[in-house]
Parts: sequence; structure tokens; C-alpha cells
Amino acid sequence: MRADAHPGPLRVLVFGAALRAESTNARLASLVARMIADTGVTADLAAMRDFDMPPYDGDAEASEGLPEGALALRDRLEHCDAFVISSPEYNASMPGVLKNMIDWVSRVQPQPFKTKHALLVSASPSMVGGNRGLWALRVPLEHLGTRVYPDMFSLAKAHQGFTEDGMLTDSGLQERLAETVAAFLRLVEADVRYVCLQRRWYEFRGDRTEAPVTQRAED
Ligand SMILES: Cc1cc2nc3c(=O)[nH]c(=O)nc-3n(C[C@H](O)[C@H](O)[C@H](O)COP(=O)(O)O)c2cc1C
Repeated sequence: MRADAHPGPLRVLVFGAALRAESTNARLASLVARMIADTGVTADLAAMRDFDMPPYDGDAEASEGLPEGALALRDRLEHCDAFVISSPEYNASMPGVLKNMIDWVSRVQPQPFKTKHALLVSASPSMVGGNRGLWALRVPLEHLGTRVYPDMFSLAKAHQGFTEDGMLTDSGLQERLAETVAAFLRLVEADVRYVCLQRRWYEFRGDRTEAPVTQRAED
């Protein structure tokens, strides 16, 4: 067992990345949280509004530090082994509020993304289900060291995609999502409990040219 493994059930933070009340991504996040809980893993379902924060501003960071919403997300991330984001696609990319959130939280030292696994899902009324936004979302997360699961899930025609009780209308898709979630959890479990790989990474915050690059290693 890994030296830093905790004995309790795995913990996974799940949130939808749209602010609007009727968000289909919030519904998809809720369904994924239910699927996670059904496997005996603890799901921490959050709402985007739990992490309200202003646009990133270096002067505000220097004078006031991180906003409460960013610290709240940092705390929730620190208490989980993995996270799931259900994100809409805006103009073939991720929503600005989500990127802003990642930017603020990346300023925490040590930043919490690098020790986590992530599963990315999306919902959109379009035919591709917002999948292009997820490819864009992989970039900052992988840059920060998150181990982003290779498989993703995108729900096309999401406005017609849910039953009254929050399941997917298409039972084949429901099964595929459940299988993707279960496979993701198996990988997280294997890594958190058993894998003893040494991880190496470099941190460079990019704000001062003379700032040293920090090399870290962890067993
Ligand atoms: C600014 C903006 C840009 C959008 N661009 C795209 C897009 O590129 N691809 C897409 O599938 N949907 C796009 N949409 C539609 C969203 O997918 C749709 O609003 C979706 O319902 C948002 O997710 P939600 O239901 O969780 O709020 C866009 C919506 C907005 C507001």
C-alpha cells in the first residue's frame, strides 16, 4: 500500500461547470455523483456557485491573496483523491469561468491539481455534446499535473437527454457512462492504494524570470 494512502473509502469531488440554474451539466454531474456513490465511493457533489470568484487579477492576489471561492475549491480538492468536471462547451473551448477558476487555484502552493486524477464529461444541445471543450480543458489540467483519464463522455442533444428522475434517456448511453465511471474509479483505487511510482514534476509559476524552477519528487 502507498505510504500516503488513506484507509477510508475513496473520495471524489464532482461539479458541473455552468452557473445557470437549469444547467444540463449540473444534471450530468449529479448523475455521475450518484453512479460513484452506488459503487461505495464517497462523492462530494459541488455547485459552480460554491466557488464564486472574480476574474484573476495579479494586483488583487498581491494585496488580498486568493478569493474565498478559490480557497473553497482548494479545500474541496485537497479532501479528494480525484475529481470529475462536467463542462459545457463555449465557442469550441471551455467556459471562461472554469479557466478563471483553474487559474486562481493554480496559484495555491503547493497547487492541488497535481496529485489528482480527473474524469471529464460534457453536455450540450449540439450533436457533438461539447466534446471539443473537453479537449481544451485537458490542456491546463495536464499542464498542472492532473492525471486526466483518457476516456471522456459527451452527451449530445442534452436538452432531451434526461429522464424526469435524472437518468439518461438513452439506456445504452447510461450504461456507457456507468462503465466509464467504474473504470475510472478502478484506476484511481489502484493508484491511490497500491501503485508506488515515484512522481517527478517541475513547478514554474512564470511570474518572475529569476524565479527558481522547483523540482519535486514523491514516493
Ligand atoms: C457563449 C456561448 C458559446 C457556446 N458555444 C457552444 C459551442 O461551441 N458548442 C456547443 O456545443 N454549444 C455551445 N453553446 C451552447 C451550450 O452548449 C449550451 O448553452 C449548454 O446548454 C450549456 O450547458 P448548460 O446546460 O450546462 O448550461 C454555447 C453557449 C454559449 C452561452
